[in-house]
Amino acid sequence: MSVELPGELPAAPDVTHIWWARPADLPQSLLDRLSAAERAKADALRHEPERRRSVTAALLLRAAVGQLTGTPPADLPIVRRCDECGGPHGRPRLTGSALELTVTHSGDRVGVGIATGVEIGLDVEPLESARITEGMADIACTPNEARWLATHTGDAYAGAFLRLWTAKEAVLKAFGTGLLKPLTEVDLQPPTDGGPFTGPVRSGVEAWLYPVDPGSGYVGSLAALAPLGVVREHDGDALLAALTVNG
Ligand SMILES: CC(C)(COP(=O)(O)OP(=O)(O)OC[C@H]1O[C@@H](n2cnc3c(N)ncnc32)[C@H](O)[C@@H]1OP(=O)(O)O)[C@@H](O)C(=O)NCCC(=O)NCCS
Repeated sequence: MSVELPGELPAAPDVTHIWWARPADLPQSLLDRLSAAERAKADALRHEPERRRSVTAALLLRAAVGQLTGTPPADLPIVRRCDECGGPHGRPRLTGSALELTVTHSGDRVGVGIATGVEIGLDVEPLESARITEGMADIACTPNEARWLATHTGDAYAGAFLRLWTAKEAVLKAFGTGLLKPLTEVDLQPPTDGGPFTGPVRSGVEAWLYPVDPGSGYVGSLAALAPLGVVREHDGDALLAALTVNG
């Protein structure tokens, strides 16, 4: 099956692609495109919104890689194997390919990213100020970051914290350890203009940060272990809809 999808994507290796979508109730015909491991992981999730995010992200990743490679989503050898314990979880990889993959899901958003030859990490969080408490800064921040965060109050504090948090988590996902490496080992240069964290990371892990837009009410970050060329963001809902229409 070849999927007709909205728009054309450049195959250029210096282009990194990001897709954002909403978790969806997918029909069985689409769930059948997932691997046995992806289905088992989702089935183990008792919380329905979590299960929906998991299957939507897994299918979106397959559809996105399929669009770039011209391979039917169900045929792609995408595997998750934890570097730490060998279990069937962790960063997704496309066996035998130079494409590097990343996945994130939270609230009403799932995001996937694909780069060529550069490991990347994508992270998204809902902008819900109620769940951010000042104590969270103690586990996440270096002294330099804490000083910058303390210059924010009220809703601005939550926004600043989530920009910082997603940037740091994106770096650790690109690095491949996730939170097994302490967040304080990544020391970011705070932005001076109220915008997102961008550019090279100060210390701890050599990485570069790029702004992404997961949509209203959400904060996201993209990190890479080497400088990226162009970053292009796409409508993942349209990609999933095209997959549905094309059966
Ligand atoms: C990576 C991590 C920060 C993600 O946290 P989260 O709150 O689930 O956040 P997100 O939704 O943004 O990311 C989830 C995605 O991260 C990816 N991921 C998981 N572990 C990863 C790792 N070590 N490096 C890069 N990406 C990873 C997966 O693709 C996962 O989605 P999927 O399982 O649906 O494919 C967190 O899972 C972590 O720290 N994992 C490593 C430590 C660990 O717990 N290992 C398991 C025991 S050995």
